[in-house]
Amino acid sequence: MNTSKLFSEFRLNKYLTLKNRIVMAPLTRAFASDAFVPNSKAIDYYARRSDAGLIITEGTIISENARGQNNVPGIFTRDQINAWQKITDKVHHNKGLIFNQIWHVGRVSHPSFLNGQLPVSASNTVMTSRVKRSVNLYHGQARGMNLFEIKQIIDDYKTAAINAIKAGFDGIEIHGANGYLIDQFLHCCTNLRTDNYGGSPKNMARFVLEIIEACGQAIGFERVGLRLSPGGYLHEIVGESKDAEVFQYLLQQLNDYSAPIAYVHTGNFDDSRKFVELNNLSMSEFIRKYYSGVVIACGGYNFNTAIDAIENKKFDLIAFGRPFIANPDLIKRLSNNQELENYHDQMLQDLN
Ligand code: FNR
Repeated sequence: MNTSKLFSEFRLNKYLTLKNRIVMAPLTRAFASDAFVPNSKAIDYYARRSDAGLIITEGTIISENARGQNNVPGIFTRDQINAWQKITDKVHHNKGLIFNQIWHVGRVSHPSFLNGQLPVSASNTVMTSRVKRSVNLYHGQARGMNLFEIKQIIDDYKTAAINAIKAGFDGIEIHGANGYLIDQFLHCCTNLRTDNYGGSPKNMARFVLEIIEACGQAIGFERVGLRLSPGGYLHEIVGESKDAEVFQYLLQQLNDYSAPIAYVHTGNFDDSRKFVELNNLSMSEFIRKYYSGVVIACGGYNFNTAIDAIENKKFDLIAFGRPFIANPDLIKRLSNNQELENYHDQMLQDLN
């Protein structure tokens, strides 16, 4: 039995205590129905992993227009809430905790998912890359939202948070990472606005802070986590030195909140990478430097590097992604020092 600090309890806040410091990272599996309802295999998939300290679900769309691919789950209809309820019940039955990651992709979409309409974003921009899981669809032009649309989408996040609590989730994670809608407001290359939502760190952080405020007021700030990618690395986000000021401002605002949120989580595939635009810090180093609350790091860690970082207080909790796909019994294997299965992309074909 391994006695590392990774297996010790962690009190996130007055409502939530994790049974260990290992988090299951959000992992899109695209196994929902055409109406975005998680299928029955997802119940066992999540239940099998419920000995993690906290499960964060796959990205879950807040409205039909929030998607950039088909068959991802949603949290905006009664059927979706009912299906999630079966999953949260099973995880709670196994004494696990589960947050729902709520998601709008913004420009990382295509008119074919949106009744022919252009994807929305912070500003008018063009993406050139291919749509994931498509043969020859390319993202293309996106359209900057007007103020009315911004308010509407903030409201959709709030409704999704309320629905997540109705479905029995212990909280939500706002997906502010990986080049999706919120991240498009936070980076200079995609936010070209000249109104109250662009042009300065304060304005660029306004959209996400309004979403946090709306969700926190609705379900309690202790039940709201946030995933961020301060370094630009995915979906054609090109980092600029001015980006660091936006994220510093945002993290400072979160420090000053009278009601602290649950955590900030790095959205990242490789946390050993240092970013020029973050003054040569990694994402977790940058967030730890400017944020005084709970930090979850993720991206390319193994058991030993995670133990080392947690023992040295580089962050508080570690999230594993691909290792959890390959090893439903990851926690047992780690605690018994058993060998792990290696992850392969073919594993995504089956919801095991
Ligand atoms: C991901 N990741 C991801 N991130 C996120 O915020 N929401 C999501 O829905 C997904 N979906 C997803 C699907 C698949 C198949 C992979 C491999 C990854 C990123 C994930 O949460 C994590 O950041 C990375 O996998 C890096 O962590 P590991 O795998 O190195 O531990």
